[in-house]
Amino acid sequence: MRLHVVTFGCQMSVADGEELASPLTGRGFTAVAEPADADAIVLNTCTVRQHAEDKAVSFIGRLRDWKEKDPGRVLIVAGCAAERLGPWIQKRFPYVDLVVGAKSIEDYPRIVEEALGARFDALAEARQAFPPETLDKPTGWASPCTAFVTIMRGCNYSCSYCIVPSVRGRELYRPYETVMAEVREKVGRGAKEITLLGQTVNSWNGNEGGARISFPELLRRLGRVEGLERVRFESPHPHFVNDDLIDAMGTTKNICEQIHLPLQSGSDRLLKIMRRNYDAGSILDKTARLRRAMHDIEVSTDIIVGFPSETDEDFERTLDLVRRLRPSWSYTFKYSPREGTESAGMTDDVPEAVKEERLSRLNALCDGLTEEALAARIGKVVDVLDEGGGFGRTRDGFKVSWTGSRPAGRTVKVRVTGTSKRILKGETDDRA
Ligand code: 5AD
Ligand code: SF4
Repeated sequence: MRLHVVTFGCQMSVADGEELASPLTGRGFTAVAEPADADAIVLNTCTVRQHAEDKAVSFIGRLRDWKEKDPGRVLIVAGCAAERLGPWIQKRFPYVDLVVGAKSIEDYPRIVEEALGARFDALAEARQAFPPETLDKPTGWASPCTAFVTIMRGCNYSCSYCIVPSVRGRELYRPYETVMAEVREKVGRGAKEITLLGQTVNSWNGNEGGARISFPELLRRLGRVEGLERVRFESPHPHFVNDDLIDAMGTTKNICEQIHLPLQSGSDRLLKIMRRNYDAGSILDKTARLRRAMHDIEVSTDIIVGFPSETDEDFERTLDLVRRLRPSWSYTFKYSPREGTESAGMTDDVPEAVKEERLSRLNALCDGLTEEALAARIGKVVDVLDEGGGFGRTRDGFKVSWTGSRPAGRTVKVRVTGTSKRILKGETDDRA
């Protein structure tokens, strides 16, 4: 039986995609790259912007034929848009077998088994009647030497533009022992790099025997896990980037030189209306301290343009902050009003043409910074964790592809010779 998992969303939802696949892989499904070849499709949806939601909805629409060709096939729609639109999806697309919202992810394996267990049995029986098939190259859910560990879910913030708190609920932290056990288990199975995940990952805290363990303390402890070479975390809230976290990052060897700091805007006036709990000055100050503690750290960011009432001057401040911060990667978005959020009650008064123009100016600036960061690596030798197939990443988050690859899971020294499509290209003579 063959499974195709599609994700339209953030890294959080990519990791959820793995979890969403697990009740099916547990029943013997294997991964296929093409939806057309699949017996089951799990669609993991996002609702953070209207565009992401529209993409998921149109994908479901396009699956009608796939489903009609063989009604034994199974279609599951999960995630954030499923949480927001559940009954509507079921009504609009009656061929969807199961809709499970993001808030139910802890119960998801049970829900799937109860709703679809009998269908899977029937499917398994039907498929046995066919001769063994030649499968496409399986997509796999993640490279075995890199793994995600979700440490918290939900969000206690109320950024005025954001729908996440309403679809994912309040913060829930996974207990310290559970996190450590999962890390050790994944390292035991060959993971060299772990990415800790959570909506505001650095607000995580746990305890051991009643004593509180903070997120920076968790990082320090991960620094002592034998065989764990690299640790990343996604996505931190700038508010919790404090001295303790900066110290932990600077002194723990396996913490990678990379941080995602979602700025959203460079205008203090807008940051206030967005309810972000920081201003532009504090971001610059925190970044300067991060760069002192971790010399080679690379910063990436998210920015929204065209938030209600954004003036040319507000936007210039955003450009100014980006110029000073010099993020190596930026994810830029046009403001999209989301139902039920505070800002949906404000007038969406920045004309579409102005949003477009601001977005293209911002993109020109951000793309230039990315190109500069890539170009600065040409001629250098970088450490790359080989994820297989001559592909991997540097500690500071650049993708690298090179010739002369070896089995996955080892760190290779690659001399960068050029770049193509934002990937560093290189070669290695390290054949140890
Ligand atoms: N409109 C546009 N962008 C948004 N984001 C979140 N909500 C919205 C919205 N309503 C962006 C933010 C966030 C990223 C995941 O998506 O930049 O950091
Ligand atoms: Fe990720 Fe947010 Fe989209 Fe949910 S709504 S998938 S948390 S980006």
